[in-house]
Amino acid sequence: MSRELKIEAARAATTLVKDGMRLGIGTGSTADEFIRLLADMVSQGLSVTGVPTSEKTRVLCEELGVPLTTLDAMPELDLVVDGADEVDGNLTLIKGGGGALLREKIVANAAASMVVIADESKLVETLGKFPLPIEVNPFGLEATRIAVQLACKKLGLTGDTSLRGGHEAPFVTDGGHFIIDASFGHIPDASSLSSALLEIPGVVEHGLFIGYADIVFLSSPNGVKKLG
Ligand code: A5P
Repeated sequence: MSRELKIEAARAATTLVKDGMRLGIGTGSTADEFIRLLADMVSQGLSVTGVPTSEKTRVLCEELGVPLTTLDAMPELDLVVDGADEVDGNLTLIKGGGGALLREKIVANAAASMVVIADESKLVETLGKFPLPIEVNPFGLEATRIAVQLACKKLGLTGDTSLRGGHEAPFVTDGGHFIIDASFGHIPDASSLSSALLEIPGVVEHGLFIGYADIVFLSSPNGVKKLG
């Protein structure tokens, strides 16, 4: 997606940001555009306090002068603005392409409302073309990967489950975990998959966001469409 489209989706989300808001701030290239626009608003006098969903976002906010605190210091938020890897018609999301899904979900859960910003290519009929990120504890990685495969097979889902970054240099999340990317091709029943994955002890969290998004701004060359 072009940078211009990311900026337009992000700009739509800024219209929902009000003075005094406690704001969750997402992760990824579209969220980065939101942060840049937010920083401009702050420099013009807007007063908000942000909670970043990743170390990467924290660094960018600090560089640009967006005031931050921690979720511990401010555990209830008014709004979180974040990107997504896929969105379906029910506003269920796949997130975690950038590896921040755990903090993103914790922050989204603490927010009264979630606004997603993306371009229209992220809208799908059935989730799952984008590999589902599954955050796992490094201990017993292979046992967890096998358990994930078995649980998914019971739901009729098969496909590659690969360790992000590979075994030589695995990607490590902000929480010190690894990520398995599960390429199912399609996820017809996100709720059943969510429950099955969360029953596996080594699974910390997964990138299906069910019932979190209230509004999705989807940008295209024809303008920004609002879902929800
Ligand atoms: C980060 O972990 C992800 O959930 C991002 O929100 C998602 O990958 C979208 O990123 P882009 O805006 O860069 O496409």
